[in-house]
Amino acid sequence: MGKTTPIDAPEIKERRGFLTTLLTLGTLGASYGLFGLISTRFLHPSRAQGQKTKMFVGFTSDVPPLASIQFTTPRGERFLLTNTGADGDPYQAFSSLCPHLGCKVHWEGQEQHFVCPCHGGIFDAEGRPQAGPPAKENQHLKRCEIVVEGSSLYAMVDVT
Ligand code: FES
Repeated sequence: MGKTTPIDAPEIKERRGFLTTLLTLGTLGASYGLFGLISTRFLHPSRAQGQKTKMFVGFTSDVPPLASIQFTTPRGERFLLTNTGADGDPYQAFSSLCPHLGCKVHWEGQEQHFVCPCHGGIFDAEGRPQAGPPAKENQHLKRCEIVVEGSSLYAMVDVT
């Protein structure tokens, strides 16, 4: 009795208390820091998120009525730019990937529709499913906005 073991020694207890305080403060600091970072991202989302840029894809003379051309975005997405021949706004672009299982679709200008050869998927000139599995699943072709400036055609593409 009266003999202190090394684990009960006052300097060991003091050191343990200091380490516990340091660990508690470190954990609190890290928690507040993480909370602040998440709050800042929530209140001020990155400007690059969802940002689009205008990409030149061709001239109007490259896409006569009922024809189409293909372009690839910086992210590697492939689209078909079509000229429906309609008055006013004949240029539109849709993904060349079928939303069913990813086969490549092609444009048939005379028929005014896109065809997927894999399972007979058909989409109208607006990318809406008309036949085959995409119609059953209500799967649309992804649209890409086209901007016409003079005789130049631009696609509004995702950069993020
Ligand atoms: Fe196009 Fe199945 S992949 S219809």
